[in-house]
Amino acid sequence: MGELQQTVLGDGLKVSAIGFGGMALTPVYGEVDDTESLATLHHCLDVGVTFIDTANVYGGGANERLIAELLADRRDEVTLATKFGIDGDPTTGKLRARGDAAYVRQCVDESLDRLRTDVIDLYYMHRRDLSVPIEETVGAMAELVAAGKVRHLGLSEVTADELRAAADVHPIAAVQSEWSIWSRDVEDHVVPAAAELGIGFVPYSPLGRGFLAGAIRSSSDLDSTSDFRRHIPRFADGALDTNLAVVEVVSSIATQVGATPAQVALAWLRQRAAALGVASVPIPGTRRAARVDENAGSLSVHLDTDQVLALDTAGTAVTGHRSLDPNWVSAGRE
Ligand SMILES: NC(=O)c1ccc[n+]([C@@H]2O[C@H](COP(=O)([O-])OP(=O)(O)OC[C@H]3O[C@@H](n4cnc5c(N)ncnc54)[C@H](OP(=O)(O)O)[C@@H]3O)[C@@H](O)[C@H]2O)c1
Repeated sequence: MGELQQTVLGDGLKVSAIGFGGMALTPVYGEVDDTESLATLHHCLDVGVTFIDTANVYGGGANERLIAELLADRRDEVTLATKFGIDGDPTTGKLRARGDAAYVRQCVDESLDRLRTDVIDLYYMHRRDLSVPIEETVGAMAELVAAGKVRHLGLSEVTADELRAAADVHPIAAVQSEWSIWSRDVEDHVVPAAAELGIGFVPYSPLGRGFLAGAIRSSSDLDSTSDFRRHIPRFADGALDTNLAVVEVVSSIATQVGATPAQVALAWLRQRAAALGVASVPIPGTRRAARVDENAGSLSVHLDTDQVLALDTAGTAVTGHRSLDPNWVSAGRE
């Protein structure tokens, strides 16, 4: 196994200083090849990127089954994170949040089965079910820790108030929410709350779902049928053109520091989290092994004050919400 720095999140959970987002290994941002995906996952472990993120909902369970193939002979090398809480509504076919205690207990057993392991290192509530008190959901999650099925608890897209209520029930290791140069709403409430409570932060979509890395110049760069980004307002025609101004700044700073745009986006996030006093480990996703190396290389990129300021300023000019439904993410409920 390669060596990489480690970061301690909340509840004493120690993970590699950069993680890997598994969602890209199901066809949300274009087609995937399972053989290449598995090779990419093995490469992660080879270079020390051992904090691997998945969810029961990705690919309808296929993502967890793919990760199971990695775990089959390398379980001890992985810090395994998965999630429950997004479910299909049988009447409308739309996704909905679900967090009743019986559902939590059902989901964990299904995930353990698909992952072919007997313990999950970090188990997240993926979305808050507003019809269930958060104390009930986290109480059921705490029972999973007591039963030895789960080691640590996390919460995705919670507000600061929801985080405080949850932390009163059981120690929370991490909040996982979107955070990047163009998605900074979490800095208003939930990041300061996490910092105050000693809870870690796991920024998802740290490359802006690939946008900040510079290869997406227009909606025609997104697959016309299956690419999920087509449903996100800031990727819509018009908004996307305006938002390219952010990418120009990221690219120009990348040239200045001799790094790639993706590395600059990740370095900005690392430095921003440090400035706000929160332990933070991003989970960029990619289908390609070479990009795992590139993204891990961000750990040695440093931006000076002027460069950070230029990126901060560029990020404030972004147009279009980060989610189709603002209430689906924490910002809509703060
Ligand atoms: N909790 C939640 O609600 C939630 C929501 C979204 C995501 N997540 C988690 O967060 C993880 C990461 O988020 P994400 O996948 O949405 O977005 P991301 O990591 O910001 O971006 C992923 C995209 O960037 C591209 N990419 C990656 N590294 C690159 C590089 N060095 N240069 C150029 N392009 C690069 C990938 O394309 P290639 O595959 O072609 O490299 C992929 O399309 C997910 O995998 C998932 O585990 C959680």
